Amino acid sequence: MGTESSGSEPRFTRRRLLVVAGSATAVVGVGGGYGLSRLLGGDGEVLPAPTLTLRARAEEVELGGRRAATWTYGGLPGRELRLREGEPVRIRVVNDLPEPTTIHWHGIRLVNAADGVPGMTQEPIASGDSFDYVFTTPDTGTFIYHSHVGTQLDRGLYGALIVEPRREELDYDAEAVLLFDDWLDGVAGTPDRKLAEIREQMATGEMDMGGMDMGGTGTGETDMGGMVMGGGSGIGMGAGFRHTGLDGMAPSGDHLAALANALEAGRLDAGDVQYPLYLVNGRPPEAPAAVRVRRGDRVRLRLINPSSDTIFCVFVEGRPLTIVRADSGPVEPVETDAVMLGMGERYDVLVDVPESGYTRVVGMPLGKRGRAVTLLRTTDASGAPPPAGKKLVLPRRVASYSDLRDADGAPRANGARSIRMDLGMTMGRYEWTMGGQAFPNADPISVRRGERIRFVMRNRTMMPHPMHLHGHDFRLVLGSGLGGRKDTMLVPPRRELAVEWLADNPGAWAFHCHNVYHAEAGMMRRVDVG
Ligand code: C2O
Ligand code: CU
Repeated sequence: MGTESSGSEPRFTRRRLLVVAGSATAVVGVGGGYGLSRLLGGDGEVLPAPTLTLRARAEEVELGGRRAATWTYGGLPGRELRLREGEPVRIRVVNDLPEPTTIHWHGIRLVNAADGVPGMTQEPIASGDSFDYVFTTPDTGTFIYHSHVGTQLDRGLYGALIVEPRREELDYDAEAVLLFDDWLDGVAGTPDRKLAEIREQMATGEMDMGGMDMGGTGTGETDMGGMVMGGGSGIGMGAGFRHTGLDGMAPSGDHLAALANALEAGRLDAGDVQYPLYLVNGRPPEAPAAVRVRRGDRVRLRLINPSSDTIFCVFVEGRPLTIVRADSGPVEPVETDAVMLGMGERYDVLVDVPESGYTRVVGMPLGKRGRAVTLLRTTDASGAPPPAGKKLVLPRRVASYSDLRDADGAPRANGARSIRMDLGMTMGRYEWTMGGQAFPNADPISVRRGERIRFVMRNRTMMPHPMHLHGHDFRLVLGSGLGGRKDTMLVPPRRELAVEWLADNPGAWAFHCHNVYHAEAGMMRRVDVG
C-alpha cells in the first residue's frame, strides 16, 4: 500500500489535522511558520508582506509505480494552503512553465484584481514572470486554487485552499482533505492534445458529443427528457435503479440520485474524455493514501472535485455521512450515504469510524470506468488493507441540492431580475454555448451593484454542466425559498435550474461551466458588476 503520514497540527484547533500523503500543508498568516509582517500601502491600506510563494513548473510525478511528466505547483496535489478568516494574504505565483498561467481562488469572494482570470481580471503571467495575489477572504471553508488558463487544470495545477474560522463551531476529532481527480496527463497524452483530438473528431463527424438538443419543450417530460430524468415513469422505478433520495424513495426527476442512476446506466453523457486513472490526493487506487484515525473518531472529510471532465459520486463504504457544508456555506446537517461532486464542487461531511481496521472512501466516476479510492485506517488496524479491486458496498441514498438548507432557515426568494440562459452546443463543431453565445465571442452580462439576480439555466444538451460563478455565491431557487449557499452547481441534462445571487462584489467576473474542455470551447460568460 502507499505511504501514510499522520502529521498533527495542534496549532489551529484542538483537533488533529490529518495530512494525507502527497500534500504538504502551508500555513499562511496563522502565527508561526510564515511570519506576517504588515506594510503600509500607498493609500494607507495595510498590506501583508509576501507570505507565500507558489511555483508552477514541469515535474515528474509518481502515480502508483508509473511516472508521468506533468505540470504542478510542486507535488500532486499542490500543497494545501490554510488561511485564517479575515486575514489578508499575499501569494506570489512564479511561472516556471513554458507558457502563460494564472491562479484562480475558486469559491472565494475576493477583490476582482486577485481573481486570476486571464484577459478578464489580469494579463496572464508570462513564462518566467511572477504575480502577487493580494486578498482577504470573507469566507471560511473548503476551496480550491487552480490554473485558469487553457486546459492547465487538467494537468496537476491545483490544490486545496482551506480558510479556518476564528472559532470552529463544528465538533469533530480529526479532519482530512480529499481531492478527487481524473488523470491523463503524461499517461495518455496531454490535455491540449486531447482537446485537439476532440475538436478534430467533432469536425469530421466521428464523435457524437451528445450535445444535441432533442427537441420538445426542453423542460417538460417529453421524449428523452421524460425517459431519462422523469419522476414517475423513468429511472428510479424500473430496473437498474440503484440510488435513492434521502428518504430511501425513488428519486424524482430533479434529484441528483436520478442523475447518478442515469449516468451510470449510460442513458446520459457523462463527459467528453475517458481517463486512464482516477486519483485521490494524487494516488491511484492500487497505491492509495491512508488517513490515520483513531477508532471511535468523528472525522471531518473535506471532499473536493478539482477534476476536469468527471462527476464523482463520493461515499465512505458502509458508513452514513452527515453533510455540514456545501461549497463555502454551512448547511443544516443532513444525513446521506453519498454526495455527488461535480467539477469545482466541495462538500464537508462528518463520518464516524466506530470499528478498527480500514474503511474505503470511494469516488465513483459516474458513467466512466474505474474508481478513485483512499483509506481511513485506524491506529490499531491489523492486517493488510483491502485490495484495490475488492467489490464495493455501494451507497443508496444520494443527497440532492434541495436537501441543502441554511441552518438558520431558508431565505426568501424576492425581487430578483431573471436572466435566462440556455446551455447548448453548436452543431458540427466542438463549441459549447451559454445563451447561444460562445466565449470569447460573447456579450458581457451587465448587472448593477446591489442588484438581486436570478440565473435561469436550461440545459438543452445531454450532458450535465457544473456551472460556476466567480466572486459571489448563489442559492438554488426552491419554490418561494432558497437553498444553501453554493458557488458551483450541476445543471442536469434537459432540466432547468434557477439560482439567485446578490451582485455585491464589483468587477468583471467569469460565469462558466467547470468542465475545462467545455469552458475552453466557449461555455463561459463575463458578468460585469458595476
Ligand atoms: Cu474553478 Cu473559473 O473556476
Ligand atoms: Cu459543461
